[in-house]
Amino acid sequence: ARLAILLSGRGSNMLSLVQATKTGALHGLAEVAVVFSNQPDAPGLALAAAQGCPVASLPSQGRKREAFDAEAAALLQQYAPDFVVLAGYMRILSPAFIQPFAGRILNIHPADTHQHQGLHAYEWAFDNKLAETKITVHLVDEGLDTGPILAQEPVDLRGADTLAEVERRGLAVEHRLYAQTLAELIKKARHAERSQA
Ligand code: GRF
Repeated sequence: ARLAILLSGRGSNMLSLVQATKTGALHGLAEVAVVFSNQPDAPGLALAAAQGCPVASLPSQGRKREAFDAEAAALLQQYAPDFVVLAGYMRILSPAFIQPFAGRILNIHPADTHQHQGLHAYEWAFDNKLAETKITVHLVDEGLDTGPILAQEPVDLRGADTLAEVERRGLAVEHRLYAQTLAELIKKARHAERSQA
């Protein structure tokens, strides 16, 4: 399966997915068609290029949402992705973007999306002294972190007494769960194709 990975920042989830295509859970199942950013100077984009991934960017600053999303979707379609994988892509997607890839867009959220949506989920868990948070991989619809859940995994936060420690524990789970969930989804899609043929 061809993946378009979208990011706006650091890119640690992108990196773990790229690694997984090379030697991990996604090996033989997926390849990175493109890593795309709405922030041309996102550190993650440089990391992706250093990994040998095709990269593309389109600055979103100052653009109207629908117009930007239509242009971004058209650009991505040139790479013929089977899945669009959001990895710290800091935008809410409009129908202009979702429609061409409906049901094939994934996101990872560092909390239970039933309990927390939007930014700063690790801060939220830390400030509320949660004993556990749940990393969530979900399909993306037009709401903010509202799409159907594909996988969740708990993170034990007991004894995590700094925000950095909460993030460290959470990200370790994110990096494993995202590749694993995607691998299962691709296997299911292949199986469905085969039983149709
Ligand atoms: C991750 O915590 C992810 O769950 C959230 O944004 C963060 C992105 O981090 N959606 P990175 O850019 O993958 O390092």
